[in-house]
Amino acid sequence: MGVRHLLWVVVAISWLCLQARVLHSLEDPVCNSSDSEALLDLMSNFESPVDGWGLNVSANCCDWQGVVCESSSSLGPRDRPSSSGRVVELVLTSKKLAGNLSDSFGKLDQLKFLNLSHNFLRSTLPESLLHLPNLQVLNLSCNKFSGPVPKSASLPSLRVFDISKNSFNGSLPVWICANSTGIQVLNLAFNCFSDVIPPGLGNCSSLQNLSLAKNSLTGGISEDILTLGQLVQLSLQENSFSGPLDLRIGNLTKLVQLEMSTNRFTGSIPDVFQKMKKLQYFIAHANCFTGPIPSSLSNLPSLRVLTLFNNSLTGRIGLNCSSLSSLEILDLGSNNFGGPFPEDLPNCRQLQKVNLARNKFTTPIPQSFKNFSSLAYLSISNMSLSNISSALGILQHCSNLTVLVLTLNYFDEELPGDASLSFPKLEVLMMARSRLRGSMPRWVRGCTRLQLLDLSGNRLGGTIPSWIGDFQSLFYLDLSKNSFVGEIPKEITGLPALIHRNMSISVPSHVFPIFRPRNMNSGVLKYKRFTSFPSTVDLGGNSLDGSIWPEFRNLKDVRILVLSYNLLSGSIPDSLSEMSNLETLNLSYNHLSGSIPTSLVRLTFLSKFSVAHNNLSGPIPTGGQFSTFPSSSFEGTKLCGDHCAPCPANHSHPGSANYSKNHSKSSDHAMSDRNLGMIIGLAFGMAIGITLGATRIGDSCLRVITRFCNHPKSC
Ligand SMILES: *[C@@H]1O[C@H](CO)[C@@H](O)[C@H](O)[C@H]1NC(C)=O
Ligand SMILES: *[C@@H]1O[C@H](CO)[C@@H](O)[C@H](O)[C@H]1NC(C)=O
Ligand SMILES: *[C@@H]1O[C@H](CO)[C@@H](O)[C@H](O)[C@H]1NC(C)=O
Ligand SMILES: *[C@@H]1O[C@H](CO)[C@@H](O)[C@H](O)[C@H]1NC(C)=O
Ligand SMILES: *[C@@H]1O[C@H](CO)[C@@H](O)[C@H](O)[C@H]1NC(C)=O
Ligand SMILES: *[C@@H]1O[C@H](CO)[C@@H](O)[C@H](O)[C@H]1NC(C)=O
Ligand SMILES: *[C@@H]1O[C@H](CO)[C@@H](O)[C@H](O)[C@H]1NC(C)=O
Ligand SMILES: *[C@@H]1O[C@H](CO)[C@@H](O)[C@H](O)[C@H]1NC(C)=O
Ligand SMILES: *[C@@H]1O[C@H](CO)[C@@H](O)[C@H](O)[C@H]1NC(C)=O
Ligand SMILES: *[C@@H]1O[C@H](CO)[C@@H](O)[C@H](O)[C@H]1NC(C)=O
Ligand SMILES: *[C@@H]1O[C@H](CO)[C@@H](O)[C@H](O)[C@H]1NC(C)=O
Ligand SMILES: *[C@@H]1O[C@H](CO)[C@@H](O)[C@H](O)[C@H]1NC(C)=O
Repeated sequence: MGVRHLLWVVVAISWLCLQARVLHSLEDPVCNSSDSEALLDLMSNFESPVDGWGLNVSANCCDWQGVVCESSSSLGPRDRPSSSGRVVELVLTSKKLAGNLSDSFGKLDQLKFLNLSHNFLRSTLPESLLHLPNLQVLNLSCNKFSGPVPKSASLPSLRVFDISKNSFNGSLPVWICANSTGIQVLNLAFNCFSDVIPPGLGNCSSLQNLSLAKNSLTGGISEDILTLGQLVQLSLQENSFSGPLDLRIGNLTKLVQLEMSTNRFTGSIPDVFQKMKKLQYFIAHANCFTGPIPSSLSNLPSLRVLTLFNNSLTGRIGLNCSSLSSLEILDLGSNNFGGPFPEDLPNCRQLQKVNLARNKFTTPIPQSFKNFSSLAYLSISNMSLSNISSALGILQHCSNLTVLVLTLNYFDEELPGDASLSFPKLEVLMMARSRLRGSMPRWVRGCTRLQLLDLSGNRLGGTIPSWIGDFQSLFYLDLSKNSFVGEIPKEITGLPALIHRNMSISVPSHVFPIFRPRNMNSGVLKYKRFTSFPSTVDLGGNSLDGSIWPEFRNLKDVRILVLSYNLLSGSIPDSLSEMSNLETLNLSYNHLSGSIPTSLVRLTFLSKFSVAHNNLSGPIPTGGQFSTFPSSSFEGTKLCGDHCAPCPANHSHPGSANYSKNHSKSSDHAMSDRNLGMIIGLAFGMAIGITLGATRIGDSCLRVITRFCNHPKSC
């Protein structure tokens, strides 16, 4: 009885399974032959076959990788062995596909979703791609397509159109909108579109995200854009837009993100933000805006990020922090703001990052900053501030402070050494170029999490204390251009983060750039994030004596070592050749003697090297990077070799005087070629310096925007 029952169960289950298989195979479509041909044609235009594609993989293209088919409903009765399938999805992203896109797309008329992003496809856009009646999503982002977008398009089902990060040119393809009124996402960013925005975007009335960033567009924000009431994100940054900002921007009440930085917008920022109750990001730095921050903006409760640096804004900073309850990032640097130091900022309860650098306030840092517990990043460099003791006394109460930039203030003041000051969370401290007097401040020792310390360009004296070697995470140390004396503390050669830079160091990411002077050339280097600062030890321009520790060999991760303009003596340790990541080694203007260790040719990353103005003698090593260094790297020494005097040859036959004359002539030639390179390099550096100088004065509206539209794309 039980056995028979069981048997019935087994039979029933088997039958069900069989049915399921039959049903499955009915639903498993077989590729329509014309779709199959189209895909094969597509593949034949690529430079190499697509993995998981081809008739030898499967005769059914619906089984190919990244291909999804759907049974065509218009086909015959269900009892056919299998239904005919049409390709509806094609996804080949990050497949290193190179070559052209063929025009066979027209045949894939059921295609709804096409994602070929992140490949190396080039050529122009095939016209057939813009005539697919069912296409909803097109993503060709991050390829190498070029040329103009074809002028006719009918994509009635389109919702997402992303051709960003290519090299398309010509005028902006707004005509897409005429036949694709349901489009929600239009991303044309990072291409070479030029000229003004032509009329036509107004038909894209459902548009939510529109990005035109990083093109070469000119003129104003078109009338059409100002009617797109559904927009949540509008990105216009890094173009050449100009003129005043239209009041009607305030009609875009659904905007969450409005980005217009690095353009040439002029006039005042209109006071139209009352109705923009969802706006979280207003990114408008590096324009030519004048006048004050409008009151509707300084009272906007939804605002999280406000960046207006590099404009010509004036007036006092009257942010109303009782309204700005969501503000996290505030960057108002490089403007002409005046009036008192904004006292109310600590009442912005979420505010973490503040840049006020290069403005001119009439009062010092207010006492209210003692309660600024959310503050993590503060830059107030170059503001003609005074009374550094008071400033440090107040700021030490900011319990969350990790980055503090005070550079170019407090000129000629005495830097308090007071060990009772305490900045326990500080990771970055920059107090450079202020001619501060005193010695190495003892309170710095308590900043145990320090990763970057820049005290360059002051008048600090005394010895460099040995506790400088105690910082576990310090990877950037700049004490250059001070008055330090005595030996280099050997403990520097034991800094753990320079021996092996621990990648797990948690660096606070922030949006603010930090500027610092370049080491060997004049000019200014800009690092966007301090994580990209190269690991550095710069002690140049002091009065340090003694010799260079052979233990510098430990610092395998240092990329820049500068000990120039000191009183160092002794020889160059052979062991420096073990500093395998060294890119810059500057030992010039010291009293070093002996010869250059030939082992230094093993420093394969070394690109800047100088031992000029020392008592060195002997031959200059040959080979490796040494063949690339200019003669100025060796001038003012008794070194000999290709760059300067030829080595006394052991062949002393009569012709040798003549020979050496000719030789030095030809090396003069080589020298002048190299000097030319140096001069060009220098001029470039100075040009950067001048631009920054102009910004500092606040005259930022004479900027030249250069655009190289064959820019290599970083994807
Ligand atoms: C394949 O698709 C084409 C349309 O491109 C259609 O004309 C043809 O009938 C389809 N073939 C089959 C077997 O369904
Ligand atoms: C299929 O054929 C192509 C050449 O047509 C070849 O490159 C590919 O390796 C073959 N694939 C398989 C799985 O055999
Ligand atoms: C791509 O197209 C160009 C012309 O449009 C042609 O010269 C080139 O040979 C094509 N490349 C391939 C791989 O088909
Ligand atoms: C397309 O592919 C990329 C990369 O895999 C992915 O990030 C994206 O979400 C996909 N979908 C669309 C709609 O672009
Ligand atoms: C398109 O693909 C890229 C990845 O290559 C992705 O970052 C982007 O978000 C996609 N676009 C859309 C609209 O989903
Ligand atoms: C819109 O589609 C129609 C019909 O396909 C076509 O005639 C017209 O040229 C299209 N418009 C544009 C701007 O491509
Ligand atoms: C677009 O770029 C091509 C080269 O890729 C160039 O020949 C053409 O002149 C450019 N067109 C415009 C309008 O800039
Ligand atoms: C919409 O597109 C049509 C062409 O189809 C064009 O004539 C009209 O000017 C467009 N309207 C707007 C508001 O852009
Ligand atoms: C559209 O914009 C919103 C708001 O900025 C953003 O959160 C969302 O990721 C964007 N969507 C696309 C596809 O870019
Ligand atoms: C758009 O903004 C302007 C100026 O702010 C205003 O006069 C107009 O009524 C607004 N239009 C709509 C539809 O809100
Ligand atoms: C201080 O920083 C910590 C960690 O970044 C964060 O969780 C905390 O909320 C911050 N404190 C305040 C008052 O913002
Ligand atoms: C500020 O403006 C100057 C001049 O236009 C420019 O060179 C600089 O890169 C800008 N700074 C930033 C951080 O955008």
